[in-house]
Amino acid sequence: MLLVCGLAAGAGAAQYRGKTAIAHRGASAYAPEHTAAAYRLAIDQGADYVEQDLQITKDGRLVCLHDLTLDRTTNVRDVFPGRSRTVEREGKAVTGWHVSDFTLAEIKQLDAGSWFDAEFKGEKVLTFDEAIGLVKGRAGLYPETKAPEVYGSLGFDMERLVIETLSRHGLAEPGADAKTPVFIQSFSAESLKKMRAMGLRLPLLFLIGEQDADTWLTRQRLKEIRAFADGIGPAKGIISARPEIVAWAHEAGLSVTPYTFRSSGQPAGQTVRDEMRRFLYAFGVDALFTDNPDQFPRR
Ligand code: G3P
Ligand code: CA
Repeated sequence: MLLVCGLAAGAGAAQYRGKTAIAHRGASAYAPEHTAAAYRLAIDQGADYVEQDLQITKDGRLVCLHDLTLDRTTNVRDVFPGRSRTVEREGKAVTGWHVSDFTLAEIKQLDAGSWFDAEFKGEKVLTFDEAIGLVKGRAGLYPETKAPEVYGSLGFDMERLVIETLSRHGLAEPGADAKTPVFIQSFSAESLKKMRAMGLRLPLLFLIGEQDADTWLTRQRLKEIRAFADGIGPAKGIISARPEIVAWAHEAGLSVTPYTFRSSGQPAGQTVRDEMRRFLYAFGVDALFTDNPDQFPRR
């Protein structure tokens, strides 16, 4: 496995020890995302890190869910049929069962497994605390602050909650547990800057979607990113279109960890293992997010 101290890293790849597999929402090709089943399988399949997307409940608890709403990955429609609500996000109306409208006790009543396969009936939404308990000592953690500005507008401080939770588990300092390195990620530069300003020394990954590539991925802007992050996490299409970005990032002292590699949707004649191999050994990325950690090519 991995990690050296984040802030002191010179070359980008220095935050990792060798090519690194991050299980995207757990082993989410094979088990319902962000459940105990998906996290355990990811560890069994040899993932170096297990990812947690984080949301906040009405009573201020961090839970592991990708979406701001519960409807895609739980049976919330059946359990709480009258609790859907429309809110405005970035000028658009979003209708659904919002995580922030439900207490943890309510969310724990939901089935987070059956939508994926009846075999997983009864899987629960995990708290970040529970996720740490499952993963600690067996792999690294890769939490993402999701929509921190939305939760900020509701009076929550997501960054503080993340740091406090990691601290309770003795994981808020680089190298605190050699078996459980922690890398924190966000699409929000402000969220990463805030955690640095709070004194956090763990390595930080700045996620960059296709829509933000032109803004951030110049040689000069990469140097600016290095002031608040240790690595970049670009959408994989950005790297396949412009592989020179990997060398630019490394020159700036940033590791490169693209997302997301999965068996579904591969073109005829290509496997996800082939695709990951090309990114790791032809383009030279340091790590990647994959739904299929069992297919990660160590060489
Ligand atoms: O965090 C890496 C990757 O997971 C970003 O995409 O939308 O799956 O969180 P998303
Ligand atoms: Ca994510």
